[in-house]
Amino acid sequence: MSGVHVSTTVNGDAVEFVCPAGETLLDVLRDRLGLTGAKEGCGTGDCGACSVTIDGQLVCSCLVLGAEAQGREIGTVEGLARDGELHPLQEQFISHAALQCGICTPGFLVASKALLDNNPNPSEEEIRYALAGNLCRCTGYDKIVRAVGAAAKDLAREAKKTKAKTKKRK
Ligand code: FES
Ligand code: FES
Repeated sequence: MSGVHVSTTVNGDAVEFVCPAGETLLDVLRDRLGLTGAKEGCGTGDCGACSVTIDGQLVCSCLVLGAEAQGREIGTVEGLARDGELHPLQEQFISHAALQCGICTPGFLVASKALLDNNPNPSEEEIRYALAGNLCRCTGYDKIVRAVGAAAKDLAREAKKTKAKTKKRK
């Protein structure tokens, strides 16, 4: 197949693929790399179901070309859980019954992770703003917002513990 050869990083792993120049990153992730967490809700950048990060920035992968992944770091919902352990956001989405359907939830999680990576202690307003690009007609968003706030507190506690351990070792 003629196409673009791309070397990139997905969830910390080095990945290479060949795709047609016009193929979206969403299609590459789903159809070439088998990462089906990102979903195609609208295909026009309106719903956030296809959310991933590129170099830490939240993007709609339906609006990005696979070729644009060259040399970048891609983050998808599959990268949230580590070594069989759910990310605090995933834990709190479960605890707060914030899970919606399989189409919109991965996007909410990726957008929430991008928020907390950039702003570890967001206000409710900031959480709502960060999730404004993730659409779901079926929820009032309150449980999701509370889950993100609780995950932020969990992450802050974890960071404090790690800091204390590192200090002890010195
Ligand atoms: S599928 Fe990309 S924003 Fe809806
Ligand atoms: S779109 Fe997923 S539950 Fe509403």
